[in-house]
Amino acid sequence: MRRREFVAATAAATLALLHRGATDGATAAGQPKIPFGAAVRDGPLQDDEAYRQALVQYCQLVVGEGGLKWVDLRPDRSSFDFHQPDRLLAFARQNGMKMRGHTLAWYAAMPEWTNAITSAAEAERELTTHIETVVGRYRGEIPSWDVVNEPLSDDSSASVGLRDSVWAAALGERYVDIALRTAHAVDPRAQLVINDYGLEAATEKARARRLSLLDLVRRLRDRGTPLDAVGFQAHLPGDLDIDTDGVSQLVADLKSMDIEVLVTELDVIDDTLPAEIIERDAIVARRVQDLLGAILSVTQPTAILTWGLTDRYTWVPIWYKRGDGKPNRPLPLTDTFEPKPMMQAIQAVTGG
Ligand code: XIL
Repeated sequence: MRRREFVAATAAATLALLHRGATDGATAAGQPKIPFGAAVRDGPLQDDEAYRQALVQYCQLVVGEGGLKWVDLRPDRSSFDFHQPDRLLAFARQNGMKMRGHTLAWYAAMPEWTNAITSAAEAERELTTHIETVVGRYRGEIPSWDVVNEPLSDDSSASVGLRDSVWAAALGERYVDIALRTAHAVDPRAQLVINDYGLEAATEKARARRLSLLDLVRRLRDRGTPLDAVGFQAHLPGDLDIDTDGVSQLVADLKSMDIEVLVTELDVIDDTLPAEIIERDAIVARRVQDLLGAILSVTQPTAILTWGLTDRYTWVPIWYKRGDGKPNRPLPLTDTFEPKPMMQAIQAVTGG
């Protein structure tokens, strides 16, 4: 498809979705059918009033962009610093929002001291104590946790295995079971999630990652390990089509095992997309619409969260800065908090 046709087709499809959203997207009470939320950055939460207002206006859910990661929470082996998550939870409560927890076991954002963890017994003890303390503190307050973040390796598409980490090195795949079992024991009502990226695109690699994730979920089920949902991070590469059939198939396979899905970190990586804004924003919205459509054709995700709300505060340029020096536009609001077509694509399905 030529670019202009692509933009026109996207606009038409978005309108069709918006129309459907208007008739059956919202519940009678006017509450969105699918809760929408965003990752929140701690600095601007404290000093940018317009940012706070935008969060209140658009979000029913928040998740800390950091704060609950080990590197923020665990300055040393014996202490916990809950300032950031406490601040976000207070903001959420004041504004009638819920907060998700991100994350309990991840290979990245680990404090230096954890490199000294080597034996299996020590790793199990540290991981268990951490989860008991953190989930315990927020029991009943944080209803959904990314218990395990990014368990899949990212080296080859031929064999997607377990991602290396302090936990995997000492415990192998058992760390996933330990984390889930511990979280479940501490807060049996919380939604426990395995969260990963690179699952959505129409590439061999994404296909291999979907299969590998599904296999992991099956093994967990066979071992009787509690798991409620899979999170599609959905950091969507803007230059790749979504594998809508592949995504729907994964969602259906998970559903057949009673595993829910949610979208946890949605944004569109736009470093190689055209510079022109109308065109770029249309492609971004199209990716989002394709992904959400593929999920919704099978089931309703339990939530949709973007990784940031406004292009003003996004992690994308850390890794995917544009060659032409223009700012990235990966998120639903512009850097001055105006809604973009991506927001319309989301609201068309949430009914927000
Ligand atoms: C990112 C944050 O957005 C950055 O501010 C931080 O410096 C690094 O981590 N997948 C995840 C998130 O699960 O935790 C990452 O967040 C983005 C990729």
